[in-house]
Amino acid sequence: MTTRHTTALPYVIHRGDALRILRELPDAAVDAVITDPPYCSGAQTMAGRARPTGDKYINKSTQTQFPDFEGDFRDQRGFLAWASLWLSECHRVTRPGGHLLAFIDWRMLPTMTDAVQVAGWVWQGIVVWDKTNGCRPQRGRFRSQSEYVVWASRGAIDTATHPVVLPGVIPVHPSRGGKHHQVGKPEPLMDQLVGIVPPGGTVLDPFMGSATTGVAALRAGLQFVGAELSAGYFATAEQRLAATCKGIQR
Ligand SMILES: C[S@@+](CC[C@H](N)C(=O)[O-])C[C@H]1O[C@@H](n2cnc3c(N)ncnc32)[C@H](O)[C@@H]1O
Repeated sequence: MTTRHTTALPYVIHRGDALRILRELPDAAVDAVITDPPYCSGAQTMAGRARPTGDKYINKSTQTQFPDFEGDFRDQRGFLAWASLWLSECHRVTRPGGHLLAFIDWRMLPTMTDAVQVAGWVWQGIVVWDKTNGCRPQRGRFRSQSEYVVWASRGAIDTATHPVVLPGVIPVHPSRGGKHHQVGKPEPLMDQLVGIVPPGGTVLDPFMGSATTGVAALRAGLQFVGAELSAGYFATAEQRLAATCKGIQR
């Protein structure tokens, strides 16, 4: 495990397996877990799921090429067991009343909501990411235009402390804000999601990829803790977080 931590900076990032890193974090240390794990989706069969992520998720004729990413191979049962483990650790690491926001697609949504509840979170609802016209139209079918954010809390939410009113559907074109990861989330989407965290709070993303969650957290004046298994994406995350800090200090 590699850890980058400078006390002068508002973030700490770890390179390695999320579950192993989470087990080393203290109890009730963060205000929210905002994360975009590998969905392990994109096919009905095990052989289909095991294909490279670029083959499963990317339209190579129109989209920029980025390296494949780790961990996107489990079947539904494997995903349920694995997600229950890391979500339990996230629950322990989040302070009482803190939030979980976990991205997922339509195929894996029921499995993710089961895992969230197995891990002890109180399921509060779903936020919809509306990808607007950023997805291919398909004849005779509905557009695959949305992804989902499973929202949960560690026990009851103290709405008096941070009485924000946030949207339940967030329309953002997938390419807005620039892309740094094969399935990276748009910065304007993450800017809205971090609004759930009280001022000065800490956000954890155990599957940070290129650290879009971290960039949004820092811009909102929050602290960030991240983990990533892939060396290449860890390096991208380091660069983006450092550049964001410089931009804020200017
Ligand atoms: C969906 S991507 C996150 C993308 C991110 N939201 C962004 O905007 O760049 C999930 C990331 O989790 C990483 N990952 C997969 N399994 C992991 C594990 N066991 N521990 C840590 N990171 C893991 C992948 O390499 C991938 O970069």
